[in-house]
This record gives sequence, structure tokens and C-alpha cells, in this order.
Amino acid sequence: MRTPIVAGNWKMNKSIAEARELVNAMRDELARMGAGGKTQVVLCPPFISIPEVAALLKGTPISVGAQNMFWETKGAFTGEIAAPMLNEVCEYVIIGHSERRQYFGETDEGVNKKIKTALAHHLKPIVCVGENLAQNETGQTQAFVGGQVRAAFKDIARDDARGIVIAYEPIWAIGTGKAASGAGANAVIGLTIRGALADLYDEATAQAVRVQYGGSVTPKNVAEFFAQPEIDGALVGGASLVAADFVAICKASVK
Ligand code: PGA
Repeated sequence: MRTPIVAGNWKMNKSIAEARELVNAMRDELARMGAGGKTQVVLCPPFISIPEVAALLKGTPISVGAQNMFWETKGAFTGEIAAPMLNEVCEYVIIGHSERRQYFGETDEGVNKKIKTALAHHLKPIVCVGENLAQNETGQTQAFVGGQVRAAFKDIARDDARGIVIAYEPIWAIGTGKAASGAGANAVIGLTIRGALADLYDEATAQAVRVQYGGSVTPKNVAEFFAQPEIDGALVGGASLVAADFVAICKASVK
């Protein structure tokens, strides 16, 4: 049994004051849901709000995550944030989001380096993979997403691999209001993503890793995803900025 995990990726939204307001609006309900370990809720605000959000969530079962980090641990890397800084204030880190790959030139090799550094500093990676529209329409999803998984997990030991969360986010579904179908996402996660993990490690590891769906998840469509056997939760962008919507999505993840 894999515990569901729902993460809110706030992206570049909310000031510190707004972050405080959003957390206060949903903290108690999320905390009740997270109690007893039935689901894991993670909030990923911009770096600058992480300490504030972490302080507000102290003593609750809600976790905090970052949206990115660098693979070096300190030094002359202007504007970057390192794993040893993050693990003082948060537990998770999103790595290789398609927006990082698309707008900031992140590569599969960089993603692999970041995962290794995150693990070495006891951060739990949420690793994003997903094909673009052209790849989807020309039947390249399996090869492309499978390749991203293999590259991300390169030289990562089995025990470490089991603690990594994967988010399957088809790029054409992110922020477009055009979500994948539950069955379609289930097939990519089951065949392609768990298939790649089974090739790299073994079937038990493939079954142990939690895989989220992401891309235009809303309270309206979420049940379709959570009903799928291969989908263990969601990475939520837009809807994570609205307290009632994010609470509803988290609630749907409790089986
Ligand atoms: P969205 O974003 O829910 O706004 O589509 C998801 C994501 O990019 O993580």
C-alpha cells in the first residue's frame, strides 16, 4: 500500500503575507486530513516564504517543500539555493519541473545531479517527467518519459529510489485546463514509469515508488485520477492557490 501524496506547487505566486493568509485558510482542515497518515500533504511555496510556511505548519502532519534547488552545496552560484539550506526548513523538493526544463535549460543530467544531492541531504525529491504535445501526438510518450525516468534515476541505489516521488505531468496538460484522462495517465504511469523502474531495479521497487499525476487537476476532475490504481496523488499548480480547491483535492486523496 502506497500512501497518497498531494503537493501544492505554488510556482511564482504569493507574497509572504499572502502565503501566510493562504496557509491560515486551509491549515486546520489539511491537518485533520493528514492525521493518521492516510494521506501526505505537501505545500511548496516560493523559497522566500518557506520559513514562514514551515513555522505556521509546525506540529501539523503537513509537510513543506521547495520548488527547486542547485546540485552544488555551497559557493559562488549567485541566485541559487542549496540542499543544506533547504533541509533546515523543509522536507521535500520538486526537481526537474517542466517549467525549469523549458525556461531555465534544465537537462536530464542536471536533474540526476540534483536528485543525488537532495538525497545526500535528506530531502525527499518529487521528480517531474512528462511529454510535450508534439511528442504525445506522434506516439513518442513512452520512449520520452521512459528515458526521462532512466536518466533521473541513473546510479541511484534501490533503497534511495524507493523514497523518491515521481510526478507525471504531461506538458500539454499543465496550466491549460486540458487535463489528461485518468485512464491515459494511469497507462503511462503503470506501463512506462513503473516499467522503467522495474527495468532499472525490480518489480517490488517499481511498486513501492509513489507516482503523482499533475496537469490541470481540479476538485472537479480529481476523482477520476485518484480512482486509478497506478496514481498515488497529485501535483497541483493553479488549484493549490485557492484554499477551498486544494482542501477538496486533498480530501479526495483520502481512501
Ligand atoms: P497546474 O500545474 O495544476 O496549474 O496545471 C501543475 C504543475 O505544473 O505542477
